[in-house]
This record gives sequence, structure tokens and C-alpha cells, in this order.
Amino acid sequence: MSDQEKVDKTRRSLVVATSAVGAAAGVGVAIPFAASMLPSEKAKAAGAPVEIDLSKLVPGELGIFEWRGKPVWVMKRTKEMLDGIKQADARLTDPASKVDQQPAYAKNEFRSAKPDLMVLVGVCTPLGCSPKPKAAEDKAEMGADWTGGFYCPCHGSKFDLAGRVYKGSPAPKNLEVPPYAYSSDSTLVIGEDKETKGA
Ligand code: FES
Repeated sequence: MSDQEKVDKTRRSLVVATSAVGAAAGVGVAIPFAASMLPSEKAKAAGAPVEIDLSKLVPGELGIFEWRGKPVWVMKRTKEMLDGIKQADARLTDPASKVDQQPAYAKNEFRSAKPDLMVLVGVCTPLGCSPKPKAAEDKAEMGADWTGGFYCPCHGSKFDLAGRVYKGSPAPKNLEVPPYAYSSDSTLVIGEDKETKGA
């Protein structure tokens, strides 16, 4: 199967709204990004918190946003995706998120302030590549017990849909969870801490 066919297959379930940063980091999906999903140039330059309108995200789709020059992934996880996360524990390096890679409010089963909403920095821990989304249906490529997540082609690290790294991966740590808060039910603010601003 060619690389392009693999990408097309992934897009069945995980559609990526990529940003300029996502593209620069090697996210190989050619869907046009939604300008409304990107922070203003001023906000980017200042490293300011980035506001995201969650009403534009369809469950199961991955949105990529730029915060402080890094790609931040945001996804509304479906019930099937959350069930898949629960099944992965025995195959993970740090299933309980003991290593300090997340704020205190994300040190839980789904590594998130609210169970359904995934918020991760999309940068792999060894060399900074950006992993690719791989749907639960990609079992032929990822293994029979794959329940969906991300694959880093640089050295072959695998992560689940909470950003937890699989045993045997070169990446030593789970993906980072950035600080974030909800300013309303449908507005997420990356870079503002829930503990200081309230959720
Ligand atoms: S940078 Fe991701 S596996 Fe090496």
C-alpha cells in the first residue's frame, strides 16, 4: 500500500483540519484548513492563549491549532474512542501518567479535564516529529489490538487517543498535555490554566 493510500485510509475516520504549523511539521493530509480555526497573527507572535471554538469540531475529527509555535491537537472523542483508551492500559509505558507531562487536572484516565475532549501537544518526545493519526480500523498496519491513536514514523512510536505511549516505542514519555481552560461550554482556551481561570 502506498503512503498516499495509507493517508486516505486514515482519513475515513480521522479527518485532520491542518494548519500551517501542522503542514510544516509534516502532517501529510491535504485538507484545506479553516481560517476561522487559526489564532490571529498577533496572538501567535505574542505566544498568547489561543481560543478555539469547539462547536466547529465534529466528534472523531482531529483539529490542529498553533500555540507558541507548536501544533496542538484537539478532538472530541466518541464513546468508542474512550472505550478503546480503557482497553489499552496493559500495553502502555505509563498508563497512569505518573511522569509529569500534564497539568494536575489531566492526570486521570483520559488525560483531560473533560473525558471526551482530547487536548495534546502533537510533538513526539524523542526528536520532535509530529505523529500521524491512525484510526481503530487501521489494525492491518498497527496490530490486531490497536484501538486508535497516533503513529510517529520517525522512529516508530505509537500513542493511544490519550497521547499515552505504547511499550516498545522509542519515545520514553506520553505526549504533553498543554495548560488549558474552558471560557464557556463551547470555547477552549489553550495556554490558560484551568486551576487559575476556572473551567
Ligand atoms: S520522533 Fe517520534 S519516534 Fe522518534
